[in-house]
Amino acid sequence: MSKVTVVGAGNVGATCANVLAFNEVADEVVMLDVKEGVSEGKAMDMMQTAQLLGFDSTVVGCTNDYEKTANSDVVVITSGIPRKPGMTREELIGVNAGIVKSVAQNILKYSPNAILVVISNPMDTMTYLSLKSLGVAKNRIIGMGGALDSSRFKYFLSQALGCNANEVEGMVIGGHGDTTMIPLARLATYKGIPVSKLLSAEKLQEVVSSTMVGGATLTKLLGTSAWYAPGAAGAFVVESILHNQKKMIPSCVALDGEYGQSDICIGVPAIIGRNGVEKIVELDLTADEKALFEKSAAAVRATNAALKEVGAL
Ligand code: LAC
Repeated sequence: MSKVTVVGAGNVGATCANVLAFNEVADEVVMLDVKEGVSEGKAMDMMQTAQLLGFDSTVVGCTNDYEKTANSDVVVITSGIPRKPGMTREELIGVNAGIVKSVAQNILKYSPNAILVVISNPMDTMTYLSLKSLGVAKNRIIGMGGALDSSRFKYFLSQALGCNANEVEGMVIGGHGDTTMIPLARLATYKGIPVSKLLSAEKLQEVVSSTMVGGATLTKLLGTSAWYAPGAAGAFVVESILHNQKKMIPSCVALDGEYGQSDICIGVPAIIGRNGVEKIVELDLTADEKALFEKSAAAVRATNAALKEVGAL
């Protein structure tokens, strides 16, 4: 019996739960929300698609009842408010830090061995906050930003190349912020062919820029932050954990000397399996990429420092 809890049954959380159930990633998916009846309603709605879509996973909803989440293998945290057009992810820290901290603590009471996947924004800082406030082993806390940003990068690359996005490889490392993420254009390929051989430097720069503001572009169009890809990215990370797929997923993980950084959670490629972060993959970055990574880490650190100001750490 595998069990996943998704905390927060808003757009992102509900999409994540839906993908987990539809793809039968877990036997049981529990959605928990603070809003009376919302997760129960969404769970029932999803269960009424089971016969139409042919899945056997069970989805259960509950209002703030952490007992229902007991013994989850993996817990996805989406709690907090999403950004509005014109806002940065970093501006959400004041509201979201308190919410994420108390959610994470409640979760651990009932699922002491769970692996946590953090989606709430500002994602790098919320991942760091979870790690610091829970005191659990660093392999058990994973921020999902890199999975989402890399998927957006592959989408924009496929649009520029006019090809199938599934035939494109690409990674985004660094922070999950409009100015902190680093799409690694040098290492991106189409069927093994470096994209730099197929796209002009100018076009490639356009792809990089579109990727970096990928979330902001959608927030402007939608009036709130996106949910299909963020929810699916969360489910993608959960699947690699629960099914021990050991996929290499750019993920926000605690660094302890890797990439010359420590006491920070930031996006780097990691092998994600049943133990959570099984290995951090150290890429041989160029001097320019290293400089970008250092700048990104400094920005993430500055947001982390605000955790003290808002009394979360
Ligand atoms: C985004 C939010 C979820 O990038 O961070 O869409």
